[in-house]
Amino acid sequence: MVETKLKILIVASEAAPYVKEGGLADVTGALSAALSFMGHDVRVVLPLYFQIDPKEFNLTECKETLSVPMGVIGTLGASIMEGKMPGTKVTVYFIENEYFFGRPGGLYSTVDGEGYMDNDNRFTFFSRAAIELCRVLHFKPDCIHVNDWHTAAIPVFLNISYKDDPIVGNCATLLTIHNMQHQGEFYEGLMDVLDVGWEHFHYLELERDGKTNLLKGGIYHSTLINTVSESYVREIQTPEFGINLDGVLRDRSADLYGIINGVDYDTWNPETDLLIAKNYSVDNLAGKALCKADLQRSFGLYERPDVPIIGLVTRLVKQKGIDVLAETIYGILEHDVQIVLLGTGEVWAHFFFGDMPNQYKGKFGCYIGYDNTLAHKIEAGSDFFLMPSRFEPCGLNQMYSMRYGTIPIVRAIGGLNDTVENLNEADNTGTGFKSYDLTADALRNTTLWAINIYYNRKDLMYGLIKRTMNKRFTWDAAARQYEKLYLKAKSQNISCS
Ligand code: ADP
Ligand code: GLC
Repeated sequence: MVETKLKILIVASEAAPYVKEGGLADVTGALSAALSFMGHDVRVVLPLYFQIDPKEFNLTECKETLSVPMGVIGTLGASIMEGKMPGTKVTVYFIENEYFFGRPGGLYSTVDGEGYMDNDNRFTFFSRAAIELCRVLHFKPDCIHVNDWHTAAIPVFLNISYKDDPIVGNCATLLTIHNMQHQGEFYEGLMDVLDVGWEHFHYLELERDGKTNLLKGGIYHSTLINTVSESYVREIQTPEFGINLDGVLRDRSADLYGIINGVDYDTWNPETDLLIAKNYSVDNLAGKALCKADLQRSFGLYERPDVPIIGLVTRLVKQKGIDVLAETIYGILEHDVQIVLLGTGEVWAHFFFGDMPNQYKGKFGCYIGYDNTLAHKIEAGSDFFLMPSRFEPCGLNQMYSMRYGTIPIVRAIGGLNDTVENLNEADNTGTGFKSYDLTADALRNTTLWAINIYYNRKDLMYGLIKRTMNKRFTWDAAARQYEKLYLKAKSQNISCS
């Protein structure tokens, strides 16, 4: 049990098991559970999206309702649903507003990938609703933990609109940046919806190139900031990865930390995983061969135990380096190898990769879409897992694949660089294969190196499998670091009030 029991409110736009588009959901779900197991009072706030079925999760309606001030738009209402995160003591509140969150399609965009035109209002509303929720429930968190641009307005509101509020007025905040690319940058008129005063629309605070930038406001106003790997902390303070906000991040470098994500080993564990053909462990790998055959059948590949399979599970967007992969994939497929790809994202990629199984029958398998069961099958049945990311704040799949003895081939960037150690053939050490330049040649050469090891150095291959399967990235360790940051934020906030 912990010495100081903290009251922590985690506000995020997605959380497993309720709703997920990317790794943010895994993090919100697993971190809140880990903190709660440590003894903290952890509550999570999510939008009640159309995709969440209240009955499936036993949600109940709270008697309190919310009035959410939205500046020039006026005050909008919301009701609240509440439930316990399955298997935990974490209370989850859902902000219910049919107009903003009751739409089918994606969480942030239509099924065609067009971002919703009113994402500015949707997440401004959600952010402010989370603060109003604390007030109506008389819940005074020690720290409000906000995530990415969607909830970055919370520290702005707290410091300006609620600074004298008896409940939330002295609340510390931690902003976690999972991805610098998405900043919530909208037209300048959003300032009138935020209603915090135009004096805050300046180049250090909420303004960026004449627009209102919510992430920038969050960086300026949060008590502390962290991102999801040490490498990414350094990278985002450079123009290339800071994407216009490297300057404000450098200004706050004393308050900027890196905490690598963990893995939920209850979900991602080949010994217990119910979604794979056969369970296996580091001491008995027989099941992995059956998972490989099952994967080959599932994707219409030739059923051959002797050929290496390279798996990919990814959002098909530029961040993930899929354009570079597209350039070099023919060169890789010249060799005796199979590739399986599961993903969804940019339309060109759907056509490009979606057609590859026709060109490389039995060699290239592809499913364009989102499918959790297939994601598990790929982790278990592949020999290698490829992540050629352009940038990667942390990345989860390389850590998942290690647990399954599926060797990561990654670009040495961000969290990929921090979690994967390059194979050293002389010493038989390391946990994967790294490529350094973001070029088709570098990616192909590294992939061919892995294929060569598979065919010609069984000893090194076995060493890699053994080491990766024994490696752990626990949420318990990450949660302890978050606990330290919450405490630090709390004390820092008190000393400046
Ligand atoms: P990001 O959040 O940038 O997409 P991460 O590696 O942090 O990258 O997390 C991605 C998460 O989403 C992983 O849990 C991965 O398994 C899952 N995922 C991504 N695409 C798909 C898909 N098409 N089907 C199933 N799961 C997916
Ligand atoms: C983001 C990043 C990914 C990270 C995830 C969870 O979506 O792209 O690298 O693992 O957030 O922190």
